[in-house]
Amino acid sequence: MNKKGFIFDLDGVIVDTAKYHFLAWQNLAKSIGIDFTHEQNEQLKGVSRVKSLEKILEWGNKTISEELFASLMGKKNEEYLSFIEKMTDEEVLPDVPKILAYLIAQKQPISLGSASKNARPILEKVNLLSKFDAIVDGNDVSKAKPDPEVFLIAAQHLNMKPEDCIVFEDSVAGVQAANTANMISIGIGERNVLHEADYIFSDFTEIENSFIQELINR
Ligand code: BG6
Ligand code: MG
Repeated sequence: MNKKGFIFDLDGVIVDTAKYHFLAWQNLAKSIGIDFTHEQNEQLKGVSRVKSLEKILEWGNKTISEELFASLMGKKNEEYLSFIEKMTDEEVLPDVPKILAYLIAQKQPISLGSASKNARPILEKVNLLSKFDAIVDGNDVSKAKPDPEVFLIAAQHLNMKPEDCIVFEDSVAGVQAANTANMISIGIGERNVLHEADYIFSDFTEIENSFIQELINR
């Protein structure tokens, strides 16, 4: 039986949390007198918490002490977690359970490949943790996307070669990471943003089982 490694990003792919990251960063940036645009936010997607704050400070031309940096990171995560607390499995993105069920029925190995340090509690909250054979998240990596580290570790956990892995991503950094890892990249989101991906869909409702089956048979 053919097997491929299926690797899913979390925020903006499995759950609708990208909007909460954006809100929390926007509020934090505002609190230190920095505004940032929708285009700049696209550059924060997929990027680690530390790197995100570094970028925001760079855009705002601000240098701050290490202590303040650490406290701002804490503040952002606190607000983000307050949004997550109220989250239910209704915020699982459309047809995600369907694609996971199909992959499980076809006995395909599945991993998470996320930059988030909050990945496990979020997957638990929406009752999807048990669907994954491996979880690789922000606690396991030292290099942020677009570095391919997170996906290469996921491939190792699944016992698959990188070229036999398929990555679902909503961020430019994540698509670049998948491409650098020599994996098939599937962008979930806007075509004009994710044009570097091998395939692009608005969301999982556009992905037929036959397409997944073709990937498995490649
Ligand atoms: C990524 C998000 O999945 O995780 C980023 O796209 C976020 O927006 C990053 O900054 C880190 O997440 P967390 O939950 O560890 O702050
Ligand atoms: Mg994402």
